[in-house]
Amino acid sequence: MRLVGEAVDRVDGRLKVTGAARYTAEFSLPGLVYGVLVQSTIAKGRIKSIDGRAAEAAPGVLAVITHQHTPRLAEAHTPPVGQSLPTLQDDMVQYSGQHVALVVADTLERAEYAATLVEVAYEEEPPIATMEAGLAWAFSARASNVVRGNPAEGLAQAEVRIEQTYATPIKHHNPMEPGATIASWEGDRLTLYDATQCISITQEAVAQRLGMRRDNVRVMTQFVGGGFGCKGWSWPHTTLAALAARHVGRPVKLVLTRAQMYTAHGYQTGTVQQLVLGATRAGKLTVIEHQSTNQTSAFDDHVEGAASASLELYACPNVVARERIVRVNATTPTAMRAPGAGLGMFALECGLDELAYALGLDPLELRLRNYAAVDPQTGRPWSSNFLRECYQAGAERFGWARRSPETRSMRAGDGLIGWGMASTTHPEYRGEASARVCVLPDGRALVQSGTQDIGTGTYTALSQIAADVLGLRMDQVVVELGDTDLPTAPGSIGSRTITSVGPAVHEAAARARSRVIRMALGDERSPLHGYGEEHVVVENGGLRLAHQPSRGETYAELLSRHGVSVEAMAQSAPGPEQDGFTRRAFGAVFVEVHVDPSSGQVRVSRCVGAYDGGRIVNPRTARSQMIGGIVFGIGMALMEHTVVDPRLGRILTPSLSGYLVPTHADVPEPEVLFVGEPDPHTSALGTKGIGELPAIGVPAAIANAVYHATGRRVRDLPITPAQLL
Ligand code: MOS
Repeated sequence: MRLVGEAVDRVDGRLKVTGAARYTAEFSLPGLVYGVLVQSTIAKGRIKSIDGRAAEAAPGVLAVITHQHTPRLAEAHTPPVGQSLPTLQDDMVQYSGQHVALVVADTLERAEYAATLVEVAYEEEPPIATMEAGLAWAFSARASNVVRGNPAEGLAQAEVRIEQTYATPIKHHNPMEPGATIASWEGDRLTLYDATQCISITQEAVAQRLGMRRDNVRVMTQFVGGGFGCKGWSWPHTTLAALAARHVGRPVKLVLTRAQMYTAHGYQTGTVQQLVLGATRAGKLTVIEHQSTNQTSAFDDHVEGAASASLELYACPNVVARERIVRVNATTPTAMRAPGAGLGMFALECGLDELAYALGLDPLELRLRNYAAVDPQTGRPWSSNFLRECYQAGAERFGWARRSPETRSMRAGDGLIGWGMASTTHPEYRGEASARVCVLPDGRALVQSGTQDIGTGTYTALSQIAADVLGLRMDQVVVELGDTDLPTAPGSIGSRTITSVGPAVHEAAARARSRVIRMALGDERSPLHGYGEEHVVVENGGLRLAHQPSRGETYAELLSRHGVSVEAMAQSAPGPEQDGFTRRAFGAVFVEVHVDPSSGQVRVSRCVGAYDGGRIVNPRTARSQMIGGIVFGIGMALMEHTVVDPRLGRILTPSLSGYLVPTHADVPEPEVLFVGEPDPHTSALGTKGIGELPAIGVPAAIANAVYHATGRRVRDLPITPAQLL
């Protein structure tokens, strides 16, 4: 490996900073018209009447589409939909912000104006607006219950016990790029430009909804301006754009407004988590009881899985993880970096901190005493685990040994200083992926795969892999992604892209290399004619003999002589190398906060994250991902909170002025350390997914640091000044 492991520049960096990278909403097509959504102003009830006549008569309007004349949509099944409720199919309203009409006009401004003229009369019922209200109505259902060992026995053995309730609010992903679709029909063939983390899920979902053959739907997305989960599944606006385009017989562009992004493609559910920890005086966990309740919509069972975090990390013999859901008049929640564990580890890692104080133990020492040498749930060995090294490297870089254990004991002037830490872990999900590699007559290589770059550096990492296998420079490799006509590959979800697609590109490139070599060996005009394949190496854009470097030729010389390109496909899936192992990425994060006791304001002043992500293909783009995750964690700890009106069920913060996210001034320069080694059981490349890993643990580390600084334990996120005064 020559380029894999190097901090090479992003191949699309220049395109992005010059504005030349084109995102979904920036495409145009001949005859393009514009769709604007009208959304319900009530959270529960039915539409009594809907009058589109004034809108239809407005200048430039081509159609006003409502449930009264939308073709019937099929139920989408299999995983692809973000919510099961079909759109514009009947008069029922199940949440505020539900789409009730789509206005299509020849310009965006005319469509926006006409949308204001659609008159909707409702028969309103009082909604269940919040999880608290839902719980009061006892609309809760037990969704799952996983037990390990004997929790009752574990409780009886406990010499020290912690019993607390933690809560996390509902939150929104807020990627910079809005959800957007351009739909265009040619006969029975539908083409969608869609802002999605998974072109193949969009393809499948829209095909199911419209009752089409999957290969009659083509989905493209060249660049994605962030998703964090909200673009992972397919949401109603994409199918509506396709319906509208068919209805008006012209391509339709539909872009969500920032406000619509709070109801149109999911959010992170809120949780209430009850946690019981029991331990011996020596700090060995004897029991973890973790129950998480999350809200879901009136029509889908979204189980967040927060409690399962307690099954995964510590060597505790007795654990119960219970998940419950509560129905609320809201849209269906979805994955948000990182689903389940991102919320569950807040409770677990705060709970461990509370236990450390109860035992008089250093929080890091407590974690080391409960380190799991094997997967505590299955007893299987880890495929690789450098968590101890993460603890050690992170603590050393941070200076953790200098921490004074008492709360309110570290100060700077009038300010309070707190140090906190937490662990992180995320499963490794490698999926099946395929790729094509072509070595072209001009000596460059073309790499094609039907995944997409969510912004994390997929184009760059795949270029590095192909360049290494073929002995090319970065600028001699062209990577094409984001088109369902390319070989099928997974979504940019669950931190799986490089571990899934990397091996496919690696294998396809190796096959192409082997074909090129054999072509040279069999070619009388090649200087390599008649040698054995084992004597040939590739480097500097061509082939040469290993023992006689002057003897060889470039790909361009060989292939232009033949006037052909050489192509190879590979389909790559997890194999027996994974059998019998549990594959996870690990990490540890250490933070320092400054708290102003007079205002209650918390500032994260330092942050060190140490991570085991197996082989790191590109330390520069990987570091950016880790920083992004840490910033996500800071937002979760201190700012992010979607506020819902408890009577109306309406979101009160649908904008980036009402919904706070960290800005540069809120974020220290995080220090990122990669301490893992290539994992032999994930793939030949040895990578482990790292996209979601860094966001996990940060909220707990900050809450723990705030406790250390102030003596105030906040268990209800976000931590606001009001809670500290
Ligand atoms: Mo992710 S939350 O799987 O985009």
